[in-house]
Amino acid sequence: MNFHVLTLFPEMIRQGFDTSVTGRALANGLLHLNAVDIRDYSRDKHKHVDDYPYGGGAGMVMQPEPIALAYEDVVKDMEKCPRVIYVTPQGRVFNQSMAEELAKEEDLVFLCGHYEGVDERILEEIVTDYVSIGDYVLTGGELPALVMMDAVSRLVPGVLNNEDSAEFESFHDNLLEHPHYTRPVEFNGKRVPEVLLSGHHGNIEKWRREQSLKRTLERRPDLLETAALTSEDKKYLRELGYTCLE
Ligand code: ADE
Repeated sequence: MNFHVLTLFPEMIRQGFDTSVTGRALANGLLHLNAVDIRDYSRDKHKHVDDYPYGGGAGMVMQPEPIALAYEDVVKDMEKCPRVIYVTPQGRVFNQSMAEELAKEEDLVFLCGHYEGVDERILEEIVTDYVSIGDYVLTGGELPALVMMDAVSRLVPGVLNNEDSAEFESFHDNLLEHPHYTRPVEFNGKRVPEVLLSGHHGNIEKWRREQSLKRTLERRPDLLETAALTSEDKKYLRELGYTCLE
């Protein structure tokens, strides 16, 4: 997977990404990061990349030309036009299924805005996806781009040590994950649930599934509407008092 990030703060992207799991995947060559400084493509002698908005109003707007030149440089050796994600609070809200879809791509381009916005004409020309990370406004697109890149990276085969762990986790089947326990067997007077100490794999799996269902019902009941539920699951949810099943 090749990530290309068009940004005014390439160091923020490099430092944010080159740590922990994603840093190891960069070192292994499973991921590549191309953080492109839009300012390098300014033809202005003061390296300006923004100007006042036509029509007046507060703040500055990023100019189209430096972004167009940076983009052309990024795509010049690609065989097909990549997906270009403009990170903006006006976009579709990012979720796990979008991460799964994006993880199939060979190249992803992220465009990070700053100031009041980006000239609409360059967005119309290059952007394929408008994506937000939630209904709040940040100072720029770098943190949202890093959030999305992290979520996509861990779905790239080999990036996680244990491939299983990307599969059986929160949002698998649209359910939240069951709780986890490790040593010691007793902590502050609380024991690890006996079933986990039993060594009985069938009972452990059943307990974990029920915990997933219970936790999803308590914390994110909205997810149950689209969860992949078996008839056993539905029976258990009814026992918990959930009534919204067909
Ligand atoms: N830029 C500023 N706020 C944002 C958000 N919530 N999501 C994506 N990009 C943004």
